[in-house]
Amino acid sequence: MAEAKRIDGKAVSARIIETVKQATASLTAETGTVPGLAVVIVGEDPASQVYVGSKARTANECGFKSIKHELPAETSEETLLKIVGDLNADPSVHGILVQLPLPDHIDEAKVIQTIDPDKDVDGFHLINVGRLSTGQLDQAFVPCTPAGSMILIREVLGDDLSGKHAVVVGRSNIVGKPMAQLLLSANATVTIAHSRTKDLPAMCRSADILVAAVGRPEMLTGEYVKEGAVVIDVGINRIPAPEKGEGKTRLVGDVNYSEAAEKASAITPVPGGVGPMTIGLLMANTLRSACRTAGKEPPKI
Ligand code: GUN
Repeated sequence: MAEAKRIDGKAVSARIIETVKQATASLTAETGTVPGLAVVIVGEDPASQVYVGSKARTANECGFKSIKHELPAETSEETLLKIVGDLNADPSVHGILVQLPLPDHIDEAKVIQTIDPDKDVDGFHLINVGRLSTGQLDQAFVPCTPAGSMILIREVLGDDLSGKHAVVVGRSNIVGKPMAQLLLSANATVTIAHSRTKDLPAMCRSADILVAAVGRPEMLTGEYVKEGAVVIDVGINRIPAPEKGEGKTRLVGDVNYSEAAEKASAITPVPGGVGPMTIGLLMANTLRSACRTAGKEPPKI
């Protein structure tokens, strides 16, 4: 098999962000509505800080109002719930994102369920989970990482996945489960596999579409990949890279790229694959929320 096509998530995300930027300019010119995105982060997790910084920067680039609440790790649950409540009530805010994970003393589920479902641009609220599960995709906010992954799959395979077997490795609420729902909505036959699945390599080798969301660096080696499969690597793992110098690190996915690329027909790299899509979809969801309140049709993403 020829070397796999490298799916360029950075380019696709740039295209989405450009669409969002233009639609935002029209929305604001026609209605005066400026999409507002509030990002809340509790504590100093360095990876979360990077993600949140990038989300706020891209929001500004799109012409949004961007609000960032950076709270100390000791922040009480009560204080956080009050902030979320205030953002729910603020008409200039169309999207609220509370960066996860939260410190252990805060009940993550309780915070998420406090977010107004119509401002829940992460798609984590039970109402949005329910809308996705029942196929009401028009109403649902869909979690950004699986939604972005789905766009990359469509780039390669088109909208209809009838007859394809998709294997999603990982069963998280943020990625694995919503990813499976999206694939099912596109007519794929879906298996959710995980660490307790028997003979995981063989299960993965039965996949026409293989989505890796396990959080283990380069765990899916060549033996997990069927010839011609489309491989979507959701993992972002920072590992030591002594070859770059002492104390240096590099990012790798959950898939061993070079081994998998020998078998796959198409594969996402890390970095530059799913990662940039997550931010693009967050912008698209926030614009959609703002369009809804202004009674305008959002652009097709
Ligand atoms: N932590 C890791 N991914 C995400 C995400 O998509 N949204 C939020 N809020 N937190 C995250």
